[in-house]
Amino acid sequence: MRILIINGPNLNLLGVREPGIYGSTSFEHYLGTLRQRYADIDIEYYQSNVEGLLIDKLQEAGFSADGIVLNAGAYTHTSIALHDCIRSLKAPVIEVHISNVHQREPFRHHSMISPACRGVICGFGLDSYRLAIEALKG
Ligand code: DQA
Repeated sequence: MRILIINGPNLNLLGVREPGIYGSTSFEHYLGTLRQRYADIDIEYYQSNVEGLLIDKLQEAGFSADGIVLNAGAYTHTSIALHDCIRSLKAPVIEVHISNVHQREPFRHHSMISPACRGVICGFGLDSYRLAIEALKG
């Protein structure tokens, strides 16, 4: 099984960025524990701060990967382009958020991409990514 995890803008700063909300673990460290736990799954990782590059990566992997775990960061709340892209893909996409966006500012309550995704997992810290992998494993 091949799963791609994609992180959007500012998620390269995990561990440093607002640790009260996002925790103090870097994503690279967490990814190591995920890969150990799911040694039978090929877990690829990509991060970009650029909307178009996220779309390029989704298009590249979206017809061959078994599933995609996407934390689109703030583009979640704004991007029709990501919505259209996700709808075009063959691979199921799970939307994830580290924080519970519904407990936060009203502008985080709406997701442009949720209707195009297989499902949404939010609010479980970094464990949200593991739960998304479990969902894809079925
Ligand atoms: C986030 C929530 C978004 O609202 C925010 O813009 C992020 C991170 C999360 O993982 O909780 O960058 O997607």
